[in-house]
Amino acid sequence: MKLVPKNAIELNHMRAAGQLAAQVLDYITPHVQAGVSTLKLNDLCHAYIEEHNAVPAPLNYKGYPKATCISVNDVVCHGIPSADEILKDGDILNIDVTVILNGYHGDTSRMYTVGKVDDAAMQLIRTTYDSMMAGINTVKSGSYLYDIGNAIEKVVAPKGYGIVRDYCGHGLGRTFHEDPMVLHYANREFAGVRLRNGVTFTVEPMVNAGSFRTELLDDGWTVLTADRKLSAQFEHTLAVSDNGPEIMTLSPAGYTLPPYA
Ligand code: MF3
Ligand code: CO
Ligand code: CO
Repeated sequence: MKLVPKNAIELNHMRAAGQLAAQVLDYITPHVQAGVSTLKLNDLCHAYIEEHNAVPAPLNYKGYPKATCISVNDVVCHGIPSADEILKDGDILNIDVTVILNGYHGDTSRMYTVGKVDDAAMQLIRTTYDSMMAGINTVKSGSYLYDIGNAIEKVVAPKGYGIVRDYCGHGLGRTFHEDPMVLHYANREFAGVRLRNGVTFTVEPMVNAGSFRTELLDDGWTVLTADRKLSAQFEHTLAVSDNGPEIMTLSPAGYTLPPYA
């Protein structure tokens, strides 16, 4: 794995892109309600991104058809927004926004809840968030990449949930996906990789209520839990600094966990 740190100018671009992506997730929050379609949410995000002089990175990425990914209930990731998918009371969903602003990527996602969600689902969401933050908080100049997945697993495993292995976090900058590859579970394969100042990447654990196994639908994108139980995910873009992680996609509104109102 080849980790290329960003310089001060590049980091400023990353901050701006990250802040815009987080702002999109803030903006869409009041629109996430029973009766709305996931396509409508996508289109609102798409318009907002363009109004802010940015481009939605997923659109046409390897043939992906929409501006955002919206993954409802047992969809693990890469859910394709659809006019036929109408949110209903009790649903949980992840909205994943990646913008390209002045050539740089900002990538972040959060869980949202629709109306009254049951305790088991809320618990899954909270644990997923806590695991992401535990992973992020290991990061500083000189820390090991391995520490991230290890910290995530320490939070998730005691709850009996499954950590998805088929998809991982990633470096990003001018490109959407680059080194490092960030695993969300303890894995010694890249045990020797150390982080250094200026390296930028995402931490984005997908946590399943049941098995970690996933299934890819025939559309080539939609990833489901193999057992059709719920899945949750949060994602931040960060940069490594001497003092610790610099989270570039913090919510300007201060949103962390749903419900946000
Ligand atoms: N935003 C996703 C990630 O966190 C990637 C989506 S790729 C797409 O890496 F093509 F599905 F949009
Ligand atoms: Co990502
Ligand atoms: Co993302």
